[in-house]
Amino acid sequence: MMNILAIESSCDDTAAAVVRDGRTVLSSHVSSQIEMHTIYGGVVPEIASRKHVEAISGLADRAVSEAGLTKFQLDAIAVTYAPGLIGAVLVGVNFAKGAAMALDLPLIPVHHVRGHIAANYITHPDLEPPFVCLCVSGGTTAIMDVRTYTDMAVLGGTQDDAAGECFDKVARVLGIGYPGGAPMDKLAQGGDDTKYDLPVPHVSGAELDMSFSGLKTASLNLIHNSEQKGEALDLPSFAASFGRAVSNSLVPRVISAAKMTGYGKIAVAGGVAANRRIRADLQAACAQSGDRLFLPEPRWCGDNAAMIGCQGFYEFQAGHTASWDLNAYATRDIALG
Ligand code: KG4
Repeated sequence: MMNILAIESSCDDTAAAVVRDGRTVLSSHVSSQIEMHTIYGGVVPEIASRKHVEAISGLADRAVSEAGLTKFQLDAIAVTYAPGLIGAVLVGVNFAKGAAMALDLPLIPVHHVRGHIAANYITHPDLEPPFVCLCVSGGTTAIMDVRTYTDMAVLGGTQDDAAGECFDKVARVLGIGYPGGAPMDKLAQGGDDTKYDLPVPHVSGAELDMSFSGLKTASLNLIHNSEQKGEALDLPSFAASFGRAVSNSLVPRVISAAKMTGYGKIAVAGGVAANRRIRADLQAACAQSGDRLFLPEPRWCGDNAAMIGCQGFYEFQAGHTASWDLNAYATRDIALG
């Protein structure tokens, strides 16, 4: 039996969790800084780092006691060490190092996006690699070949903006909140998704690659043009049309990836995986293709530490522990771990 204390601080959520044997979440806490950053319309890196410093020790302490354990019953410390806002990631890495040293425990570095993929193991105890995973968050849009728990390759991805970034930018211009994915999703309910014709770009010569900058520009132009003409935009229909365009970029490509690999299993990961339109379209597409679909519960889609504890267990089993000179990285190839 292995109890891992996991730490996540790569962006604007400080999180701590205790996970048993890679699958069972004993406790999970997320302290969001959203209110603070909303004032500025985006994450302010220095504020994020400082808020992590304030929150992290108390959160870790709470995660251990709510798991029904003492810190002496922990078996390892896992931490997100890349990618993210560098000052923010450094806070988590340094805390985890201190905890591992004080308790004389192994230190397990976890790639944030690998953690998002592992969120599926919490919801689906029967899911095992190999499978294809669509990773869609604020900073990442990629289709992954998850060959084993720790051996992964990128099959395709965005050539420019991430899908979540595109949701956030458009929502900001519409003034409907930050981060914008969830409000856009809510607004889209009841809208006519065919009312606005938004582009779904193709990347020639790269069947599984995507591009979102054209969709972002077309959306912003449409919003500005209607403002200039004094015409009111039908907001629910615009949000629904936008959701359709994003979904039409993502869903056919992940279905193609499943066909190419022959795995017959598709998982989804990251904050944008909570999107109702994308989830529904994936369900419909998989019902047609015969692929088995694994969707993480919405509460595990956004940033959390439980997913880091899950992936940390498998990284540990593969012998991936860190020495005391572990550093944090703003960017890092997911295939390298
Ligand atoms: O995974 P996440 O919490 O953080 C990163 O690792 O980036 O993802 C955050 C992103 C944001 O861009 C947010 O707007 C988006 O996920 N998001 C959504 C929804 N909920 C969160 N996008 C579309 N629909 C949603 N329901």
